[in-house]
Amino acid sequence: MTGRMVERVVTPRIRRLEIVPPQATPPDLGAGLPVRSLHLNESPFPPAPAVIKAMQQAAAALNRYPDHDGKQLVAALALRTGAAPDKIVIGSGSNELLYTSADISLDQNDEAIAPTPGFPTYAKTIAMRGAVHVGVAVRKDGVVDIDQTLAAVTSRTRLVFVASPHNPTGGLLAQAEIEKLVRELPDDLLLHFDEAYYEFGRHAGGPESLPLLARRRGPWIATRSFSKAYGLAGARIGYGITSSRELADVYRKIRVNFSVNAVALAAATVALDETAHLAELLEHTATERQRLALGLRQVGFHALPSAANFVTVIAPRPCAAIAAALKEENIFVLPFPWPGTPGALRITIGSHDDTTACLAAIGRIVKTI
Ligand SMILES: Cc1ncc(COP(=O)(O)O)c(C=O)c1O
Repeated sequence: MTGRMVERVVTPRIRRLEIVPPQATPPDLGAGLPVRSLHLNESPFPPAPAVIKAMQQAAAALNRYPDHDGKQLVAALALRTGAAPDKIVIGSGSNELLYTSADISLDQNDEAIAPTPGFPTYAKTIAMRGAVHVGVAVRKDGVVDIDQTLAAVTSRTRLVFVASPHNPTGGLLAQAEIEKLVRELPDDLLLHFDEAYYEFGRHAGGPESLPLLARRRGPWIATRSFSKAYGLAGARIGYGITSSRELADVYRKIRVNFSVNAVALAAATVALDETAHLAELLEHTATERQRLALGLRQVGFHALPSAANFVTVIAPRPCAAIAAALKEENIFVLPFPWPGTPGALRITIGSHDDTTACLAAIGRIVKTI
């Protein structure tokens, strides 16, 4: 089969997409140089023992399809969030719900607004539907710019992505900014409020978004993840709280059938009760985040304020080169462009040892680049 034959079956829209698949962490080969995975915003710790046990038990019944709607998990989430169960939806990672929002709201040539830099799925889902991606630059402090987001809305806007804490900056929206968004965003479009880092944002003093979003008359969904604070990135499970049962029904209707597997459902349901495990992770993250940011400032980097499980710095040296040099030491971080500077680096909070090793390596590298 030639590349040409493949090309014939791929629509021009998909051919035009410039998409880089996500990079997993390479396996740890031992050899005295551990792999430090600080590029995917994962938890450095395994799931709680009770969660692992629940997954093992669920594995024994994998001859059966899972519950598409995840009713048991949804009931537990309803208790926790105060939202009615019929307004809650689940997804294979919150990622699936980002795709579903685009599926629900976007036709070709519609406009969708998303912060830039932003989580790559926003641009991907918008492009896959042949819609127009209207990028709104984040503020200098890395927080989503609500004024500019509102200013970018036109009569063709059907979907608006907003994230808090934002990735890849860690910027957290203040209550007044969410209130303004909710007050001024037109009703006839879908607001997707991405809270993949919700638990970290709350721990850092951020507002609870649900009562604020509930004041919006138009449709909205707030999505959260078990991948980050709950340490279940490999299980692929997230959820969304929607403005109405009618909107939740649309997500349930068009989601990939059985996309959330039974092992992930069992894990997430038990993880919600492992509150000490979560509290420990949140404390650890806040402590290491402060230590990492301080160390990076000491070598002349500008650290953005972060309410997430990573620190983002604007570096005085080319970031791609710094990241490449770190990779030589088995330390994986994410470099990305930051206009008017040599670039930015996003570094996930790992273990205490990870922070120590990363700071030591960067201290050495900046002297040579
Ligand atoms: C802002 C943001 N949204 C959504 C996701 C998707 O997370 P998951 O699909 O693992 O829940 C991520 C993952 O990194 C993210 O950073």
